[in-house]
Amino acid sequence: MERRINSILKERQQEGLLRRLATVSPLGSGKIRVGGRKYINLSSNDYLGLSSHPELARAALAALSPVVGSSASRLMSGSTRLHHVLEDRIAGFKGKEAALVFNSGYQANVGIISALCGKDDCIFSDRLNHASIVDGIRLSGARLFRFRHNDTDHLEELLCRERNRHRGALILTETVFSMDGDIAPVGRISQLKKKHNCMFMVDEAHATGIFGACGGGVLEAEGVTGGADIIMGTFSKALGGFGSYAATSRTLRDYLVNTCRSFIYSTSLPPSIIAADLAALELIKREPHRRETLLSNACYFRAGLKKKGFHVRGDSQIVPIIVGENKEAVRVSEFLKGKGYWVTPVRPPTVPHGQARLRISLTFDHTPGGLEKFIKDISGYGQKNH
Ligand SMILES: Cc1ncc(COP(=O)(O)O)c(C=O)c1O
Repeated sequence: MERRINSILKERQQEGLLRRLATVSPLGSGKIRVGGRKYINLSSNDYLGLSSHPELARAALAALSPVVGSSASRLMSGSTRLHHVLEDRIAGFKGKEAALVFNSGYQANVGIISALCGKDDCIFSDRLNHASIVDGIRLSGARLFRFRHNDTDHLEELLCRERNRHRGALILTETVFSMDGDIAPVGRISQLKKKHNCMFMVDEAHATGIFGACGGGVLEAEGVTGGADIIMGTFSKALGGFGSYAATSRTLRDYLVNTCRSFIYSTSLPPSIIAADLAALELIKREPHRRETLLSNACYFRAGLKKKGFHVRGDSQIVPIIVGENKEAVRVSEFLKGKGYWVTPVRPPTVPHGQARLRISLTFDHTPGGLEKFIKDISGYGQKNH
């Protein structure tokens, strides 16, 4: 076993795929300190800059006493009043009857998918869905059909061919894709879900707080909230806190409380985190200018990079610059670090082979002037137009 482990690490090193953990100190306002140097952080999902907002800190501090930890799972004695208040707020925010809070987005996806589907069911999943969705599908034992990214014709073809050979069917997609920053055709998928008698679950991890007039996400923006049976999302990205949720019907919530193993067999979130999540939801409602500024800066930034000849994807605050080769992505990232930008390279298996990239995630704290300077700085790197 030890020999195999060493050879895997060596292989990863040779392929430019070995990861190391950097020790970082978040400084707020879109900056971090690493190894004594201050960087502009372009690799954070704190899209609205809420993680350093004083209202979140105040709410968390106020809820720290008399206990720090929640001490038990929800079904034992860990279901505090704050958990229920947060679930009611999320249900309202997402336009669903009910909601259930989970400890993380990863736990929610793995637990929900494996609770809903079994070996007699089938799952239709976008090819670029997040690892937590992939792992939930694997754990479920259901038959998997992956449709080409955002390709509803391919999805329909698979549905026509496979749906009726299985007991139940679930369609899964992210709404804003984490590594590509593009947006799923949720309206068309919700039509297909109805036509082919499937359940439809969306992951709004990167859309919540950003899209929609009230910040509810892509479903809200597209006016198809009712089209999905389960809307999953996290508090750990635009909301600047921690934990996750599924907004759904009362019946499905009851079902998950009784069957979802990642929910049942894990200590519930501590009250301080729940209080911070509640404060973040208030800020999303009260400060729409954060998402408006962010999206307008993203538009400006993407257009500027394209003008300089970079291969850029997406339609959101996530702006991936496609580099191609793993080692080249590491080199560009090192070059940018030298200029004071923290941009981590994203490589396989997180993205497909040959599509290593710099995944730039913009936040409210990035200014148009700063973004313009970044474009100038990255343009100084020898190779572009990959
Ligand atoms: C699309 C998507 N879903 C789920 C998750 C997991 O969420 P969390 O970080 O809360 O575990 C992530 C996080 O990277 C994600 O990008």
